Amino acid sequence: MRSRLVPPSEYAARTGIPESTLRRQLSKGLIPGRKQGNYWYVLEEIQTPEGSGIFTAFTHAGGAGKTSLVRDLGTALAYRGFRVLLIDADPQANLTSWLGAREVKPEETLLFLLETGQLPPTRILENGLHLVPSSLDLARIEVRLMQKPLSTLLLRTALRKEPEFDFVLIDSLPSLGHLAALAAMASDGLIVPVETSIKGLEAVVGVLEAAAEYRDSLSQIDTVPESFVRFFVPTKYDQRTGGDNRVLDRLAAFQSIAPIASPLTYRPGPHRKATESALALQNVGDKEAREEIERLTQEFLSAVASEALKAEVRP
Ligand SMILES: Nc1ncnc2c1ncn2[C@@H]1O[C@H](COP(=O)(O)OP(=O)(O)O)[C@@H](O)[C@H]1O
Ligand SMILES: [Mg+2]
Repeated sequence: MRSRLVPPSEYAARTGIPESTLRRQLSKGLIPGRKQGNYWYVLEEIQTPEGSGIFTAFTHAGGAGKTSLVRDLGTALAYRGFRVLLIDADPQANLTSWLGAREVKPEETLLFLLETGQLPPTRILENGLHLVPSSLDLARIEVRLMQKPLSTLLLRTALRKEPEFDFVLIDSLPSLGHLAALAAMASDGLIVPVETSIKGLEAVVGVLEAAAEYRDSLSQIDTVPESFVRFFVPTKYDQRTGGDNRVLDRLAAFQSIAPIASPLTYRPGPHRKATESALALQNVGDKEAREEIERLTQEFLSAVASEALKAEVRP
């Protein structure tokens, strides 16, 4: 049996219990629930939910929103009852610290993979997420990968021996080097956050070139989908700005390559608060922010994860 965290409003609408009664019962512990950040959820038992896949948040542009995306989408998937593993593949280790993981030893990071060919034992976080953390030590992996080019496939091989997880989300670094290749090529496909700016749009060209190369290499050993980029996610969008809207219009041209998510709005305050309190955006943000992450998760599950399912059953 799995359990999922349901927002009280949703649970109330479904069961007909008045929301105020439900909230009172939750806070008194009369029905199973859990508080995450500012919000209560009802804990509901469910069957195994449908969906799986390994995805890498990928772009060499820094500050595009990779780490935020992995944290928020990963958390949302875990709340839906999926077993989720997050992998921090960035020596900057933002994901690790944003999830509140401290004192990371080198052997807990992907360096362990290079030594042993196995994933390191994962950390289990309070909200049920599993994490392969990172630290600055991980920067050393780059030289090792350069010396042994075939080791770029080690993460792909190791993850395919881990049936324990429904979803694996890998947070890549702002580079197109060997570690970025290891992170990208471990996945079934890339999720590409695109900052809604000219700089963001320009980065897409480089991402597509890199993705085509990864795909070519992988197609020698595996069946890979036509496009290795599986989902574009416009980020830091300000709807009042003409420039941001023009970027969105131009991004629409890439729809033939992969579905484009509804944009994630520029919310500096809540994002700062989320990092400071080691919580996901939906745990600190207002209703709008939470609905945005819900919508993203829904779009991801229907547009991307279901594609992965179809690809798996294809002969
Ligand atoms: N939608 C957003 N609105 C405002 N700030 C954001 C948003 N998304 C991310 N940020 C902030 O921008 C910075 C870069 O985001 P991050 O997720 O670290 O990108 P990357 O991992 O691609 O470098 C972080 O400080 C983060 O908190
Ligand atoms: Mg990052």
